[in-house]
Amino acid sequence: MLRVGGTHEAVVMTLRRVNVVILVLLALAFLIIVQRNLLNLSDFLHKENTDAGVVLPFESELSPDLRLEPRKGEEIPVLITAAEDRLGAVVAAMNSVYSNSKANVVFHIVTLNDTVDHLKVWLSKTTLKNIKYKIVIFKPELLNGKISKEPQTLDAEKPLTFARYYLPLYIPEAEKAIYLDDDIIVQGDIQELYEITLKPGHAAAFSDDCDSVSAKGIIRGAGNQNNYIGFLDFKKEAIKKLGMRANTCSFNPGVIIANLTEWKNQNITGQLKHWKELNTKEDLYSNTLAESVTTPPLLIVFYKRHSTIDPMWHIRHLGLTGAGNRYSPQFVKAAKLLHWNGHYKPWGRTSSFTEVWDKWYIPDPTGKFHPVRKHIGDK
Ligand SMILES: *[C@@H]1O[C@H](CO)[C@@H](O)[C@H](O)[C@H]1NC(C)=O
Ligand SMILES: *[C@@H]1O[C@H](CO)[C@@H](O)[C@H](O)[C@H]1NC(C)=O
Ligand SMILES: *[C@@H]1O[C@H](CO)[C@@H](O)[C@H](O)[C@H]1NC(C)=O
Repeated sequence: MLRVGGTHEAVVMTLRRVNVVILVLLALAFLIIVQRNLLNLSDFLHKENTDAGVVLPFESELSPDLRLEPRKGEEIPVLITAAEDRLGAVVAAMNSVYSNSKANVVFHIVTLNDTVDHLKVWLSKTTLKNIKYKIVIFKPELLNGKISKEPQTLDAEKPLTFARYYLPLYIPEAEKAIYLDDDIIVQGDIQELYEITLKPGHAAAFSDDCDSVSAKGIIRGAGNQNNYIGFLDFKKEAIKKLGMRANTCSFNPGVIIANLTEWKNQNITGQLKHWKELNTKEDLYSNTLAESVTTPPLLIVFYKRHSTIDPMWHIRHLGLTGAGNRYSPQFVKAAKLLHWNGHYKPWGRTSSFTEVWDKWYIPDPTGKFHPVRKHIGDK
């Protein structure tokens, strides 16, 4: 029965069997790895504490091998808020900060509970996964009954705009921190902004509205103010009593460098809350600028008590007009930080310098957020 070719055939058969065994083993190994990762994930999700106000540390546990060398050195805490309908803005802003610096930036993202899952997918499934961040849940109860119910106060539906009042609450361990609005793009090294020196006794630094550089962006007659009278009703007793000069240059609180030790010592949060609440009762703020009820309390509390930020670190008003801002492309390129304050956002249909913003935007892996764009061929 045994033929000459038999041994050969047997060998081939054995080899085939070995191949099958190897394949089965590989498949098993693969399943085990997948299973372990799933366990890690559920473990991880389980560990999270989603109680309001609790800091959720997030590590890229699912892709440890893909992590770049973690950044070392002094941590630069950056607080930014994430509103569900503007998540694309936060993502672009964070990407610009991170990509233009080698510093050890840690983002503290303040958001509402319902946004956490969406945000996490965006941050973990894209090139942003190496960014260090903590998600903090904003407690709308902090503000309960404390924002004016009047329809013209647009911020009333945007509780997150008040998060900047609570900086030491959200970043308790830091002495110095940066706050950034979400409609900004950073083109310089954030380390440089962080190193801006605050004068002794100052809890914050802002960029003044009437320095020549930022005033350039204001379109005359557009109803934009650059002094206190544009924000505060100086006919009201509570404002008069403060003895502030109405023509004092205002500042834009979309970029803040804060000394949190001073902030706590001076009870800045308490003072800001006080002025916010008083406004609800006495309507102290000008309504000409519907843009913000967040700003006036800051103007009062920091009247002649703030340091200044280099104007190139807060080039603003990019959102005041649709297309065709006064800034030259060269100037915009040289700016360290661009701010699209105003109605025309770079993720909207018409805006100035959309192409600058687009460079940092990362598409939403869930597909929920889309910048509105005029497409070629649109009529
Ligand atoms: C936050 O949302 C999760 C579901 O995403 C829910 O289970 C949890 O109760 C919420 N927490 C609060 C404080 O609302
Ligand atoms: C912050 O303020 C405290 C108290 O005035 C001061 O001792 C400290 O040097 C300041 N820190 C920074 C980074 O400016
Ligand atoms: C901080 O300010 C608030 C509002 O003015 C006040 O109620 C609170 O007692 C102050 N806290 C401290 C520690 O001074």
